[in-house]
Amino acid sequence: MTQQSEWEPKLLSFLCRWCSYAGADLAGISRKKYPANIRIIKVPCSSRVDSLFIIKALRLGFDGVLISGCHPGECHYLTGNYRARRRIAITKKFLEYLGVEPQRVQASWVSASEGGKFAEVVAEVTEGLKEVGPNRLFSERKLNGKEAKTGSQSTTRAEQG
Ligand code: FES
Repeated sequence: MTQQSEWEPKLLSFLCRWCSYAGADLAGISRKKYPANIRIIKVPCSSRVDSLFIIKALRLGFDGVLISGCHPGECHYLTGNYRARRRIAITKKFLEYLGVEPQRVQASWVSASEGGKFAEVVAEVTEGLKEVGPNRLFSERKLNGKEAKTGSQSTTRAEQG
């Protein structure tokens, strides 16, 4: 087995509390298998996820970020997921401009009753990240020794969300 095949990407996910977080819960209760490399932050709505949360997660060393919320038209705040979708698209373009692979940021719509779909999405995103490879931006920051101070501040802000 080569070192590359042993590498598992670290995935940070922001899940809307109304749909996707409940979907993740259902996946667990239903004993659906999905990669264990995911870390979850519960947010009130997918629109709560600021572009800075995504960028800072990548700077902290996560290889990818998944934002998941209610299906279009089913957001509890009416248009939150539409705003999230637009913001994610802009963030991906910005990351591309910075030289970061935009595939590191993914969005999905998972309802509370779709535990199986949640497990599939996590597996799909993880496979996609394996193709993209380790987060180069973080590696560069680590070499420069700059990420530690910024990292602890951003974790606190993201957790408050
Ligand atoms: Fe779930 Fe807005 S409440 S995406």
